[in-house]
Order: sequence, then C-alpha cells, then structure tokens
Amino acid sequence: MATARVQAVSLSGLQSIPSQFVRPVYERPTLETFHEFEIPVIDLSSLEVDELREKTLTEIGRASQEWGIFQVVNHGISEALGERLQAAGREFFDLPQEEKEAYANLEGVTDDRFEGYGTKLKCTSDGRQGWSDFYFHTLWPPSLTDFNRWPKHPSFYREVTEEYGRRVLRVVDKLLAAFSIDLGLEKSTVKDALGGENLEMELKINFYPPCPQPEMALGVLPHTDLCALTVLKPNDVPGLQIFKNNEWVTAKYVPNTLIIHIGDQLQTLSNGRYKSVLHRTLVSKDKVRMSWPVFCNPPLDLVVGPLKQLIDKNNPPLFDAMTLREFKQRKKAKASKLSSSAGRN
Ligand code: SIN
Ligand code: FE2
Repeated sequence: MATARVQAVSLSGLQSIPSQFVRPVYERPTLETFHEFEIPVIDLSSLEVDELREKTLTEIGRASQEWGIFQVVNHGISEALGERLQAAGREFFDLPQEEKEAYANLEGVTDDRFEGYGTKLKCTSDGRQGWSDFYFHTLWPPSLTDFNRWPKHPSFYREVTEEYGRRVLRVVDKLLAAFSIDLGLEKSTVKDALGGENLEMELKINFYPPCPQPEMALGVLPHTDLCALTVLKPNDVPGLQIFKNNEWVTAKYVPNTLIIHIGDQLQTLSNGRYKSVLHRTLVSKDKVRMSWPVFCNPPLDLVVGPLKQLIDKNNPPLFDAMTLREFKQRKKAKASKLSSSAGRN
C-alpha cells in the first residue's frame, strides 16, 4: 500500500487530525511556547574585519556553548539565491502526488544514504508520527552526489541547488575555522577531524502542510541533530522551537538569516564545550511551513572523538570515540528503547 503523505492528508480537508498525529498531552505545544525568542544573531562578515574578528569569534563560541544554536547574517548567500532555492523546493512539493512518488525511496529511511521523497512513519514505537513530508539528497562532495536522485522538476532545481551547496560550504568552512580558533586550536583542526575535504553535506527539505489542529501535533519531534553542524534556511512561517532554560521557545523569524545548529559530532569533538541543541517544530493552521537544513557530516567510517588537545587530567573525555555509522546505530537503539518505555507508561 502506498504511504499516506501528510500533504495528501492535509489536502483531504479533514477537520480533525488522524490519531497517529496526535501528540501525548505532555508534548503538545501550549500557548506560552508560542513566545518568540531571538536566538543570537552573528554578523559573519565581521570575521573579515581585523578590529571585529576577536569579538565575533567570542560571540560564536559563547552561542555554541550557551545555546547550541545561532543565526548568521551577511553570510555571502544572496537573498535572490535563497529565494530561488525555496521556489525550486516549493515547486517540487506542488507537483501532483504521482509525480512526487516517482522519487519515493522504497527501501526505508534507515539506509546509509537515504535519498528521495518520503514521510517519516512510526517516529515512536506506538506508531505516532510528525506532521511533515521531506526530500533528502546528497549535496557534497560531487563524487558522492547522484543527480538522478535529485528532483528533475522544476528544471532549475539542479542549477540553483548546486550553487547553494557551494555557497553553504564556504559558510561551513568559515564556521569550522572559527570553532577551532575559539577552542584554542589551529584553524584547520575541527575540519580535519571531520574528514577535511571529505566532509559531506546532505540537503533535506522539510514540508509541513497546513494542519487543522496545530495545537495537538508537532512537525518534527524533539531531537538533536546527529551531524556535526546544520545550516538551516527556513521559510517565513515560524515554527522552530528550541529547549532553553527548561522550556520550549520559538525562534523568531529573521529574514535572510541562516540558522546554525551545533550537532552531536561537534559536541563530541569539543568534549561537551559546545552543546548539541534539542529542538522540534510546530506546524501552522493555514500556512505551509518549509525548511532547508544542510547537514554536515564526517565520512561514515571516520572515527570521531573528543579532540586530544582538549583532554587532560582535569578534562577527561566525556564521550566515546566512534564512527558516525556506529553513532547512528547507538542513537537509534537508544531512541527506540526510550520510546518503547514511554509507550508503556
Ligand atoms: C529539523 O530539525 O529537522 C527541522 C527544523 C526546522 O524545520 O526548522
Ligand atoms: Fe533537526
């Protein structure tokens, strides 16, 4: 049987959402969680200005430690390119359902390199799921990129997305160098520890269609990103929430910023100095929310552990060293254990 896409459920015009989308009461977004909050904004171009560099590095370091998330402006990606990327993704999701299904990955969402159009089913062991569909594909390096797995429609999809990928890589390079310096290390240390030129990037497009009961559902469930770093471009519908000081706060939408999440691999490399941020998303009653995260990963079989320069008698390693492949398996096993015990309660 074909997978029920959330977009199709939304279009069917139901007044109440099917039970698999209804979150348990303790997870539902309450009114106060709609409070908007401006997460730190950092001007990336200040890294190029001698008098401002030090201050900007400190801001990046502090945000990574205290928040695990920040936004960058003046990042070198023009508004026009961002708009074209968003138009390309939106046009794909606006295609008739059968055309999108031609890109569906039937092998499931757990493969090493899952690529294609999909819907995450059974996010928890009791069969509940988030209110979203997605598209996933490799963005970098070119040697691992299979353009046959990218949408062929609209026709400008490839050109604009490749260009976006090249630009995002420049932003990533700047940030990884900034992290190294903030941690008191050689500029190239963090990138080298993530595979250097073999660093990989994957693009995901999240599509959150209008939801008749947004107060009962979530778009994606609470998680930390398992990559090293996520560079996320949202559309203008707020919905990203982060867990800060024991409550969920909604990130205020600031036009033309990129949102940078610290992921699990950077938390490990920095031996916990930087925090992998816990986040989730809300959905809207009448608007389509979309977001374009780019996940930066070390190669799957490279061992990543706390950087040895950060370890001494007073700073023992807080994390085990392991490959991303093993990390993924462990994280998945832990999540299914947690959700099955939650399901029993
Ligand atoms: C995600 O964390 O996977 C999505 C974040 C967002 O849509 O803003
Ligand atoms: Fe995420």
